[in-house]
Amino acid sequence: MLRLQGKVAIVTGAGSGIGQGIALRLASEGAQVVVDYVGKPEGAEETQQEIEHEGGTGEIVQADISRAADARAVVDEAWKRYGSADILVNNAGIEKKSDFCDTAEADYDAVMAVNLRGPFFLAQAFARRLRDAKKPGRIINISSVHEDMAFPGFATYCASKGGLRMLMRDLAVELGPLGITINNVAPGAIVTPINTALLEDKPKLNALLDKIPLGRLGKPEDVAGLVAFLASEDASYITGATFVVDGGLMRNYREQ
Ligand code: BGC
Repeated sequence: MLRLQGKVAIVTGAGSGIGQGIALRLASEGAQVVVDYVGKPEGAEETQQEIEHEGGTGEIVQADISRAADARAVVDEAWKRYGSADILVNNAGIEKKSDFCDTAEADYDAVMAVNLRGPFFLAQAFARRLRDAKKPGRIINISSVHEDMAFPGFATYCASKGGLRMLMRDLAVELGPLGITINNVAPGAIVTPINTALLEDKPKLNALLDKIPLGRLGKPEDVAGLVAFLASEDASYITGATFVVDGGLMRNYREQ
């Protein structure tokens, strides 16, 4: 039995990396998927084609979710195209490296807008629709191990993901009475475009691999399986929690 048959899922940033993996996995479990992207239509088309190749349905929506109006428009499009939605996956995210003392205001604004303002207004638009329709729903935020763990050189990213953690905890309480659950999935180092610089830097990559007890980087599929579970009936009593998918990275303190 397909676990998500009859469900509609919105996945932001679904044209590459973890978002693409999630969109394909939710579709393979029966969900109809709104494939959101911002800059590269080829990526979203690839996601849609793969979904259709496997017998599923995907609708592409272009939006810059860092703007509240666009974030709301993504939710509106789901209702326009499918009549409703059941699952919102806030996946779109960016990071920018800079020493704290040199961080520019524009970089702060960009990271906070994509990683925190977008999920905030997407969740708001989604919750309003569900409240009005008296329907339950699932919100799953793709956060990071850095919602909890320091990442020197990425203070903006840490602030945005820490904010996403508290947004999730607060909304678990505010939206619970509406039958809407919300959880975070916190990936560690996953092979995706956000990591291109690291993947091309062998010494840095090896130093990171040394810190991962399972001895490899993660794949988008490693994250997508957990998201599918959190979207399924089996997770109906789970809300307000963060689930780490990092090969053991966060727990690996060693004195050497
Ligand atoms: C970041 C990556 C980083 C990983 C582990 C992720 O959230 O996007 O750049 O390698 O965390 O530190």
